[in-house]
Amino acid sequence: MKMSKEIAVAKVSEIKPGEAKQVEVDGEPVAIFNVDGQFYAIHDTCTHSGASLAEGTVEDGAVTCPWHGAQFDLKTGKNLSMPAPAPVESYQLKIEGDVIKIVL
Ligand code: FES
Repeated sequence: MKMSKEIAVAKVSEIKPGEAKQVEVDGEPVAIFNVDGQFYAIHDTCTHSGASLAEGTVEDGAVTCPWHGAQFDLKTGKNLSMPAPAPVESYQLKIEGDVIKIVL
């Protein structure tokens, strides 16, 4: 069985509700979102042309890509609309006090 790894990526206090932040995890850009106090993490590169999804707008549990409007589910990374051809990876998070950790 593979051991899971936890990596501290941000502080709860630095991502306000309604905001997002790009962090780096093992060299990969990951977008952390705070939706009404609930945190989500997905890979930060839109599968269409590579926009940063942390710069997108969030509504109803999905982020809309800032460049051409593709939508991704924040929980699963599933691509919900064109022109995104594929999902983005989603990551499990663990909150410990003020620390947000990604579980790999
Ligand atoms: S880069 Fe995201 S929809 Fe085109």
